Amino acid sequence: MLKRMGKKYFIKTFGCQMNVYDSGRMARMLDEMGLKETTVQRDADVVVFNTCHIREKAAEKVFSDLGRAYLIKQERLAEGKDTVIGVTGCVVQAEDAEILKRAPYVDFALGPLRYFRLKEVVEEIFNKRDAKLLDTEFSAVSKFDKLPENKAEGGCSYLAIQEGCNNFCTYCVVPYTRGVEMSRPVEDILREARRLAETGSVELNLLGQNVNSYHGEDANGKERNLAYLLYKVAEIDGIKRIRYTTSYPADVDDDLIRCHKELDKLMPYLHLPIQSGSDSVLKRMNRRHTRDDYLRVVDKLKEANPAIGMSSDFIVGFPGESDDDFKQTLEVVNRVKYIQAFSFKYSRRPGTPAAVMEGQIEEKVKKERLQVLQDLLFSYQTKFNKDSVGKIMPVLFETKGRHKGQLAGRSPYMQNVHTAADMSLLNKIVDVRITDASTNSLSGEVA
Ligand code: 5AD
Ligand code: SF4
Repeated sequence: MLKRMGKKYFIKTFGCQMNVYDSGRMARMLDEMGLKETTVQRDADVVVFNTCHIREKAAEKVFSDLGRAYLIKQERLAEGKDTVIGVTGCVVQAEDAEILKRAPYVDFALGPLRYFRLKEVVEEIFNKRDAKLLDTEFSAVSKFDKLPENKAEGGCSYLAIQEGCNNFCTYCVVPYTRGVEMSRPVEDILREARRLAETGSVELNLLGQNVNSYHGEDANGKERNLAYLLYKVAEIDGIKRIRYTTSYPADVDDDLIRCHKELDKLMPYLHLPIQSGSDSVLKRMNRRHTRDDYLRVVDKLKEANPAIGMSSDFIVGFPGESDDDFKQTLEVVNRVKYIQAFSFKYSRRPGTPAAVMEGQIEEKVKKERLQVLQDLLFSYQTKFNKDSVGKIMPVLFETKGRHKGQLAGRSPYMQNVHTAADMSLLNKIVDVRITDASTNSLSGEVA
């Protein structure tokens, strides 16, 4: 039997914000067991890799990290210390039993809908060292009902309100790893939001794979949409800033657009992925919107709040993407002038329809297109940042800065801002005069 006194845990998170949220919930479970978090993997008695399967690179990185974890485990064993190695997240769901074949030294593997069992599983391994556990069930029970209460770790918290996706974009593994859409009940979300506010958060980012298709039940069993939830969260005194991520263009309704006009707490920044500017590519991606549908939504949002800044995800080199298709993506960028964006080379994911489509694009072309797209995106991002110089912006300081005496935080537009500031301002929203800007960050002084 392993004693747990003084034991430490280390969690490494790959991928999206939902994984960051899940890792936080797992950390709270291990805290409850009396374990202490460490950022040094070698010191940890329990190591958890919370994995991402969205692109091949991310998924494969997990196995090299696991290999390294095994070496560390052996070195620690020589010092008389045991290490429990666990894997959670989307790679587990996608690989299922294969994961234990590829990495037989893994002690437990829990799918993204099953990590609520973490405490019980670690406990069992502590008690019976040769126990091995794999759980990838797509359960009907909601993990959220089984998790201990959440707690803020800082001024800004994620809050999962919806999980899974019914869109089945032809490139995407999410419907297979996170399952079909599920919305949490309104009251559960508000309870968690209030708790996060009470324990120190002033900003909430409501999360879901398709967050604006939220349709949870209220206390009377009535279905409510995201707009309703945003108004309710905005009523919580301690919460000063609200965001929501990630939205699907075809599901942006007029209620949601009205929130951007009426809710002061809702930040003037929206991540709304278009993926491609070509209708024929969008069609083959099985997206339920055209390029014009998307642009109409952006126009309406800008009408509701002219100060809104847009962000997006893009995929280049989707099967069959011609030079002309790609040019149309660049046209959308020139039209919307994104203030920030994420762009990726198409990655073939086993089991998804696009992986077996004709017209796969060669790596060289993908690379060239990505470069052209990113140069253009960065030019708009840099311009937006440079235009911020001289302005006063409210910044939520989230961490210590790169240099001593500095704090780093986010502007309403998610820009990273570094400022010389007293530690007492950590987790507070403070007016900062922006003095300098680059593509990825701003610097300023407390105004
Ligand atoms: N290849 C490349 N990018 C992908 N994304 C999702 N699946 C793939 C894939 N197979 C991107 C999309 C999505 C973001 C989270 O990841 O742009 O919005
Ligand atoms: Fe994947 Fe498409 Fe769902 Fe986004 S909307 S999670 S890209 S299937």
